[in-house]
Amino acid sequence: MRRPVVAGNWKMHGSRRANKALLAELELQLPPQWPIDVVVFPPYVYLADAVRLLAESSLAVGAQDVCAEPDGAFTGQVGAAMLKDVGCCYVIVGHSERRRLYHEDDALVARKFAAALGAGLTPVLCLGESLAERDAHKTEAVVARQLDAVIAMNGIASFSDAILAYEPVWAIGTGRTASPDQAQAVHAFLRSRVEAQDANIARHLRVLYGGSVKGGNAAELFSMPDVDGGLVGGASLSADEFQQICAAAAVRH
Ligand code: PGA
Repeated sequence: MRRPVVAGNWKMHGSRRANKALLAELELQLPPQWPIDVVVFPPYVYLADAVRLLAESSLAVGAQDVCAEPDGAFTGQVGAAMLKDVGCCYVIVGHSERRRLYHEDDALVARKFAAALGAGLTPVLCLGESLAERDAHKTEAVVARQLDAVIAMNGIASFSDAILAYEPVWAIGTGRTASPDQAQAVHAFLRSRVEAQDANIARHLRVLYGGSVKGGNAAELFSMPDVDGGLVGGASLSADEFQQICAAAAVRH
């Protein structure tokens, strides 16, 4: 059985005071011995704080993005080794907000994936189609293209240390969730695409669903055979909601 993952993407929300309160509440609510991996992704400036606050807990910390370059004259950027240095274990690459608002293309996402792995971080690779692409029946073609670009640059073996997150763009922050069947279909497609190159890696690969996951819909999403947990945005800012989502993932185990 694949160990479920629940990842909380805080996006550009929070403050030192609010984060401290949220993490303290989460630590109280999440039993230390749960059979799932729980990761929070605060904004860059709060990462070191979060690592310190969670030092005694089983929660891990990740970053929402990373520079593709290792170091150098890249004003405003943060490198993978720096994230590792402050105690991050994970990094999100290719989030649809990065692709759409900051024009990150498949090749850049593949380089970020490489940078993460090179520094010993686990990349959480986000894939997903827009509503127009879904309506045009291009979902599989889009996620295949996004996945293939990363496989082509990094090799299939690199996926033994990575996590996938299927996040349909039309479901992110909209309150509109993919149905469990819709999510399952794309997750199974992604797994089969990896399986075509390496069955063992495919069997162990965790594929998360993201897009308006809430306490109330997590259980039915996580009941699908290829949905190994969630990448949670808005609901990760509420300890109660996030705890409910983690509980739903723990049941899956
Ligand atoms: P949401 O965001 O849960 O608020 O829809 C998910 C994400 O963007 O990772």
